[in-house]
Amino acid sequence: MDNRPIGIFDSGIGGLTAAKVLEELLPREDIIYFGDSGRNPYGGRSRAELVKLSGEDADFLAGMGVKAILAACGTTSTNAMPELRRSRPDMPFFDVLDAPCLRVCDVTKSGRVAVIATEATIRTGAYERRLKELDGGLDVFSLACPEFAGMVERGHFRSGDPIAEDAVERALAPLRRYGADTLLLGCTHFPLLSDIIARVLGGITQVSAGAEAAAKLSGELAAARLLSERSERGRHDYYTSGDPAVFAAGAEIFLGHAVEPKRHIIT
Ligand code: DGL
Repeated sequence: MDNRPIGIFDSGIGGLTAAKVLEELLPREDIIYFGDSGRNPYGGRSRAELVKLSGEDADFLAGMGVKAILAACGTTSTNAMPELRRSRPDMPFFDVLDAPCLRVCDVTKSGRVAVIATEATIRTGAYERRLKELDGGLDVFSLACPEFAGMVERGHFRSGDPIAEDAVERALAPLRRYGADTLLLGCTHFPLLSDIIARVLGGITQVSAGAEAAAKLSGELAAARLLSERSERGRHDYYTSGDPAVFAAGAEIFLGHAVEPKRHIIT
């Protein structure tokens, strides 16, 4: 048993797609969330920059005394995990790569699947590689959507928002022609656009990298007997390197409850 908090980080509010599931699955756990909105987006950065930024995000959480860290960011998960794990060999690190790939293999019927993510993620080919390792018969179409994460950070993600509707419509046009039955959202910001994606792509099954990773993390902490033994509800603390009011506005719409993020600037 371990009463220390679970740490989650992302380049902004995207990792809340994991935090929300974790809050539901493990209501007694304390969670410390760090959204690096002040340095968002991560998706256009080099691998070296991503290693540095993600290392600083993890350092902040480790300094807060967390028992495990979820890199709730597809871009970090595909570019910086070996370095993160090497820098803190005693810290259990989780990513958002493996669990959603397993789910895609479970749910696809046609074997024709697609991955959308940031440019830095698609550049690595990591999701496509993992999917094909799991099922060599899959046809995988990978597409970078470089505009989406920044747009979501700026609050454009709700159904009917003309900026978000237009961006999704334009970016996903190649996917309409491809005709996948399953879509892996390999950037944790993208599930905030789920309703718009569903309208643009019709009946496609969407798999959220953050949600799947949170479910896996919950199972692994339970199996390792690392869950809290308390009976009361856990505390959820949110930190952002951006504007707390902007973070709170996006977070509250998505989480469905009020949050009071504190400012933390990484220098
Ligand atoms: N939410 C992140 C991801 O999953 C990063 C998006 C970005 O900052 O570009 O990739």
